[in-house]
Amino acid sequence: MNGYAVEVKNLVVRFGDFIAVNNVSFAVKPGEIFGFLGANGAGKTTTIRVLCGLLKPTDGEIKVAGLNPHDGLKPIKEKVGYMSQRFTLYNDLSVEENIAFAASLRKIPPSKIKDRVDELFKEVGFDLSPRVLVQDLSGGIKQRLALAVSMIHDPDILFLDEPTAGVSPAARVAFWNLIRSIAAKGKTIFVTTHYMDEAEQCGKISLMRNGEIIALNSPQELKSQAFPDPLYEIESPDAADRNWNKKLFNQKGIKNLEPHGSSWHFELDLKTNLTELSKEMNSQARQISPSLEDVFIRFIEAPHETK
Ligand SMILES: Nc1ncnc2c1ncn2[C@@H]1O[C@H](COP(=O)(O)OP(=O)(O)OP(=O)(O)O)[C@@H](O)[C@H]1O
Ligand SMILES: [Mg+2]
Repeated sequence: MNGYAVEVKNLVVRFGDFIAVNNVSFAVKPGEIFGFLGANGAGKTTTIRVLCGLLKPTDGEIKVAGLNPHDGLKPIKEKVGYMSQRFTLYNDLSVEENIAFAASLRKIPPSKIKDRVDELFKEVGFDLSPRVLVQDLSGGIKQRLALAVSMIHDPDILFLDEPTAGVSPAARVAFWNLIRSIAAKGKTIFVTTHYMDEAEQCGKISLMRNGEIIALNSPQELKSQAFPDPLYEIESPDAADRNWNKKLFNQKGIKNLEPHGSSWHFELDLKTNLTELSKEMNSQARQISPSLEDVFIRFIEAPHETK
């Protein structure tokens, strides 16, 4: 178990009879952006809580920053920062009061707080008055502050649980620029998201379903794994025309047809000719690269194929 920022082997977490995490194994390299994806209730937050030393696993082995929780949780907590799914900021306190509180929990001496805060605010691009109340901040700014607070003790590994939920598209882009710059400094980022454009920026992605990891690879490799054959797209000339859809369903040689807005994605049998199909359907079909959304639909719908 050497050289990884996070290593998990056969992790199991039960709540009574319910198995929330079922025999999960993976490893995260230092400096990697590791995307932890999966439907609601898949077991992502539960896994993160174990890795942050907040929840005792039922079974399995973990190492975080090379440390084994059996040797004590305190050293692990010093190495990790955690931005929980529900922001842990106090709305009725000011920015500086929130920071001072987080710093005191981390036992950072008051004399060192100011320098650390200046450094952090520079890093996360936060330039508001420290006196402003958190409840008066916008969602995007609150999120930056929550990130700064989770990094107050300069951890090596950051666990970010849906950090961009509920913030604007522009704030999400800015936040991911920040995540990339933090990773480029050698910090390991372990992040959950439901957004595919964010998943695309991860070095590696793990996809969880019902407590199990059903796919684990880089975005590019997941695409080739899920789609060894070419993928095509055809757009409905009139989205309200149900007969057109019906005709498409009945075309011979089309496989794995999936709706995407007013378009359909599919694969073809070798014998089927794309030009003839386009003519028949009165719409030009074209080859496309699969998106991560295509990949996840494929993995989620093919329960026995992966792992
Ligand atoms: N303390 C608990 N006691 C009982 N069941 C729990 C507990 N914590 C989580 N669960 C259950 O474990 C499962 C996994 O929950 P978890 O919060 O890890 O999912 P998640 O992947 O983070 O989902 P989401 O995307 O909604 O955040 C869910 O069915 C949840 O209800
Ligand atoms: Mg969760």
